[in-house]
Amino acid sequence: MGQAAGGRSMESLMSSPPRVCVTGGGGFIASWLVKLLLSRGYAVHATVRDPCDPKNAFLEQLDGAAENLRLFKADMLDYATLTAAFAGCEGVFHAASPVPDGKLVDPEKEMMVPAIEGTRNVLKACSATNVQKLIQVSSVLAALFNPGWPQGKVRDESSWSDKEFCRENEIWYALAKTEAEEIALEYGKKSGLHVIRFCPGVVFGPLLQHTVLNTTSKVLVYILKGGPDTMNNKSWPIVDVRDVADAMLLLYNKAGSSERYLCSLDLVDMKHLLEILKSMYPNYNYADKMVDMDYRIEMTTDKIKNLGWKPRKLEETLADSVESYKEAGFLQASEPCRLPFMFLVPAVQQ
Ligand SMILES: NC(=O)c1ccc[n+]([C@@H]2O[C@H](COP(=O)([O-])OP(=O)(O)OC[C@H]3O[C@@H](n4cnc5c(N)ncnc54)[C@H](OP(=O)(O)O)[C@@H]3O)[C@@H](O)[C@H]2O)c1
Repeated sequence: MGQAAGGRSMESLMSSPPRVCVTGGGGFIASWLVKLLLSRGYAVHATVRDPCDPKNAFLEQLDGAAENLRLFKADMLDYATLTAAFAGCEGVFHAASPVPDGKLVDPEKEMMVPAIEGTRNVLKACSATNVQKLIQVSSVLAALFNPGWPQGKVRDESSWSDKEFCRENEIWYALAKTEAEEIALEYGKKSGLHVIRFCPGVVFGPLLQHTVLNTTSKVLVYILKGGPDTMNNKSWPIVDVRDVADAMLLLYNKAGSSERYLCSLDLVDMKHLLEILKSMYPNYNYADKMVDMDYRIEMTTDKIKNLGWKPRKLEETLADSVESYKEAGFLQASEPCRLPFMFLVPAVQQ
């Protein structure tokens, strides 16, 4: 029997659309992936914690949703809800994980457990339901916090964040993403599950969901509106949410097992990003408190580009983001604005 994309037989490919599950389907990144998958004819199971929450209603309005989208109520810490959502799927895209915007009161409970136990449950549920392939959404932050990395050496997929460094400096998000990746890599090797680890940079871009603002979009809204918090002018690995969705589908169909992919544009200096925004939209207040950081990293994303990934230009991402925030009402002056905690300069985090 011939094999096609996603490891399916030619016969099954002709008889039914490929069926995949996206965890956390109502989220910023995952919803763009759901939209893309539907537009490519996939049957999609999307997990959400509360299918009746009005913030998830937009999913059912996506083109193709009536025929090909099913919502499943699932929590990553509730294994049985995952097996129900994965049943019948050949692949899973695991995006559901906290992206905190405030200072964590209980990092173990709020970040580590959902990210790590959630990943363990997803891995086990993939095996239990005969899922062939898992795309795990990690982060470049699982690769960048590594003081032992040789100075001047360009970071690539072989760079891992140092877990002890992250723990000592309370960089919980990076610690959780690093550990979740390690667990998935090991599990894939032992079980034969085809695991691909995907590490996007800071994701900006237009919103599909207009009621709740995700953490990284809050960063860009803060930059536009200004506020009391100090930013650093470090170089940021920015990437468009639509290019992230494209990348995930590309990896699903082309990446080898156990592979890891970093994904972003070339690093952008925050001062440069502000200049671009101000030239396009001169009338916003803009974040004016910025400290210079004597810190520069180099990172390559050639691996995913060599698979055929082509990101759009930063200007397009910024313009489409701003238009989308305007449409959703997130730029109104009356709304108070703070920079999400994990983006504050460490010395002024409080
Ligand atoms: N945005 C970025 O710049 C960026 C960069 C690199 C990697 N990532 C990764 O990309 C993924 C999606 O992030 P995003 O930016 O799209 O954020 P988001 O919009 O906040 O999405 C996160 C999703 O995870 C769900 N979730 C959290 N804890 C859960 C749990 N215990 N059980 C079930 N669902 C849970 C949330 O569901 P609720 O709606 O119910 O809360 C939400 O749908 C995350 O894994 C994140 O670490 C993001």
